[in-house]
Parts: sequence; structure tokens; C-alpha cells
Amino acid sequence: MSLRHPGAKLRPHTKAHKCTQIANLQQNYGHKTFTCATPREIIGMAAAGVGEDLLLANEVVDHDRLSALAKVSENQRVTIAVDSEYTIQAASHAGLRDVLIDINVGLKRCGVAPELAGQLADFARKQKMTVRGVMGYEGHLMMIDSHDKRKQRVSESMQLLARAAQDVGGEIISAGGTGTFDLHDSTCINELQAGSYALMDTHYAKLNLPFDQSCFVLGTIISKSDGWLVIDVGLKSLGMDHGNPTIDGYDVMFCSDEHTTIVPNKGQAETKVSVGDKLRVIPAHIDPTMAMHEMAFLVRGEEVIDAWSIDLRGW
Ligand SMILES: Cc1ncc(COP(=O)(O)O)c(C=O)c1O
Repeated sequence: MSLRHPGAKLRPHTKAHKCTQIANLQQNYGHKTFTCATPREIIGMAAAGVGEDLLLANEVVDHDRLSALAKVSENQRVTIAVDSEYTIQAASHAGLRDVLIDINVGLKRCGVAPELAGQLADFARKQKMTVRGVMGYEGHLMMIDSHDKRKQRVSESMQLLARAAQDVGGEIISAGGTGTFDLHDSTCINELQAGSYALMDTHYAKLNLPFDQSCFVLGTIISKSDGWLVIDVGLKSLGMDHGNPTIDGYDVMFCSDEHTTIVPNKGQAETKVSVGDKLRVIPAHIDPTMAMHEMAFLVRGEEVIDAWSIDLRGW
């Protein structure tokens, strides 16, 4: 990713890993600007001294959380996404100064309509805020199967962002994610907000992107019956909104709170594994999976070579 989007052209998203050690590695690859999804991620990144320019690419209205961000902004550049007069006033009252106007580029989530972006920027400037530019997240396009179709849709969506950028002014045009990392025209955006690429998941693996799966949840077989096995990894340790996890050599029958019931892949002989053995469970959605765990262990083969705190969890 760093080869394709060097330095400030990539604003890695911390939401995917929630770990300042990983963010620090990303910084070592030349990225000093970061995207965050929660106030806690901004506060944790600043406390760890990672990154120089932190963007909260999300709307926040809670005064206490905004005030905590304003405190961080005394020593560190903190920019917050806004999409209404309400969010601008809330950020301004708390003492924040730098904003990006969040544009609705088609995902039915946050973001102001492109044609209203200019007047919102004027409103922010009247509050004596610095409008650094625009962002727009095309999350609804990440999983379009065909590369060409995805490219076409991204281009249409980025035309909305470009139009808003003209009205808003400022230097930043920020968008994108792992699924669209190679589809953006550099004349349209000047930074990509990808996050999942760092660890990947089986959902994104379907797109055959050039990023390897690097994260798994280690499960222990706790029960073996005639025909199926049970491991101690379930809904409470895996982000499940993108479907069941994947385990090499096995089919997942179902997941429950603390368990996953698996059977050997069709056509395979009776499995040799026993109660007590461990299996690597690959999550379908990395972001919520990371948010459920306190520690990540770095392994080389079977050897644990380091332990990293997943220290950006919480709100
Ligand atoms: C605002 C925003 N930007 C960028 C991303 C990109 O993330 P990913 O790398 O997982 O596609 C996300 C993911 O949800 C997001 O919410």
C-alpha cells in the first residue's frame, strides 16, 4: 500500500487494527497522517506519540468527548469531520478548530449533500474554524465484484466529491478504502483512508487484492463428537456481520456465543485433530474482531515473538 500511496497520500485508518504498535509500523513506512473513527483512537494515538496529523473521520456531538479532543489538539493537529451546522457548533464550542466537510458520495451514512457543502464550509469559517477540505467515504462500492464496474462507480462517486471540493476550498480531498485502493484518480483525491489492508479479512480476500491475510484468532478444540468438532471461538471473539469465519480444512456449521462447530471439508477423511489442539480461525471482518480482543500476538510460524496491546479500543 505504501508503494502505491507513499507518505501523506495514504492516511492509514486505525479503526481496522486499533493498535498503536501497528500504527507505528505504518509510520515507519512513511505515513505520519492518520485516520481515526473514535475519539478514543485519537486520544490513544496522541498519547502514544504516533502520527502528526490525526483526522477523526466521523461525526461527534458529545461535548465531553469533543472537549477531550480539543485538549489533544493543544499539542497535536486534530481535524474532525462535520456534516451539519450542529456538528460544527458542537466542535467549535468544545474548542476544536480544524474541520473537514464530510460529503455524502452515495453511502447512506454521514455526509452533507454535495450541493450544500459550500455553504456549510462558509458557516464553519464564520465560527472562525479552519476548513481543511473535504472527505467522502464510498463504502457502498467496496465490494462490487467486477473491477471495471467498481472503477466506474468510484469515478461517478468521486465526481460528487470533486464538485463539493470546488465549493468548499482547502487543500485536502480524502476518500477511499482497501477495496478501492487502486481505483482513485490522483487528480481527484489527494489522500486514501485505507485501513483493512494491514491485517485483511476473508471478506476483502474475495476481491483478490494484493494484501495477505495476516491475522487469525487462535481457537482450541474443546469437544469432539461423532462427525463434528467444537472450538472455543465464537460470536464474542469474531466480527460476524460479514459472515462465518474460515478455518483451513474445515467447514463452519455455525457459531454461537463462545463456540464454533466445524466439520472437516467435504470429501476429507476423518480429522486427526484432538481435544486440546489449536486451530487458526480467520475472521470475515477484521475491524470488529480487533475491537473484541485486548492483545495481539505476533508470531513467526508457531513462535510468539511479541505481544501488542490493542490499545485504541473503547470510546
Ligand atoms: C470513513 C472511512 N474511511 C475509510 C474506511 C476504509 O476502510 P477499509 O480499509 O476497511 O476499506 C472506512 C471503513 O469503514 C471508513 O469508515
